Amino acid sequence: MEKTFIMVKPDGVQRNLVGDIVSRFENKGFKLAGAKLMMIPTELAEKHYGEHKEKPFFGELVDFITSGPVFAMVWEGENVIATARQMMGKTNPAEAMPGTIRGDFGLTVGKNVVHGSDAPESAEREIQLFFNQEEQVEYEKTN
Ligand code: CMP
Repeated sequence: MEKTFIMVKPDGVQRNLVGDIVSRFENKGFKLAGAKLMMIPTELAEKHYGEHKEKPFFGELVDFITSGPVFAMVWEGENVIATARQMMGKTNPAEAMPGTIRGDFGLTVGKNVVHGSDAPESAEREIQLFFNQEEQVEYEKTN
């Protein structure tokens, strides 16, 4: 079953949005396959955002994502990667549709409440960066 990496960023955790965001994915029908509240070490943040290394906002990005606790999750289900991106809305909350997570809760592109993998390759890479096997459950074995 397809899996994706979703993370409530420090602004979302601080604003008590974890429950709402988890509920949205549960209500949609996706299954939570891993979750943890954590502080991201700088080295992990730099790896996670490696593709943005040359961007002018890279330092800001790493500083922000390591500034407070995040809630990291693995979600699974049919087409979860693309569907979760739709549910999050556009990266810039000013352009995100009402009804999406960023459209409902975000104001700026830096503090945009959530991160979600944008493709199967990044989903696999990001899940492996944040979770080991023992931290993930397998629903197919128990169903
Ligand atoms: P995210 O989905 O976590 O992936 C990369 C992040 O870079 C993105 O969300 C935004 O929060 C952030 N980002 C993109 N553009 C800018 C920008 N111009 N200034 C600051 N942060 C940005």
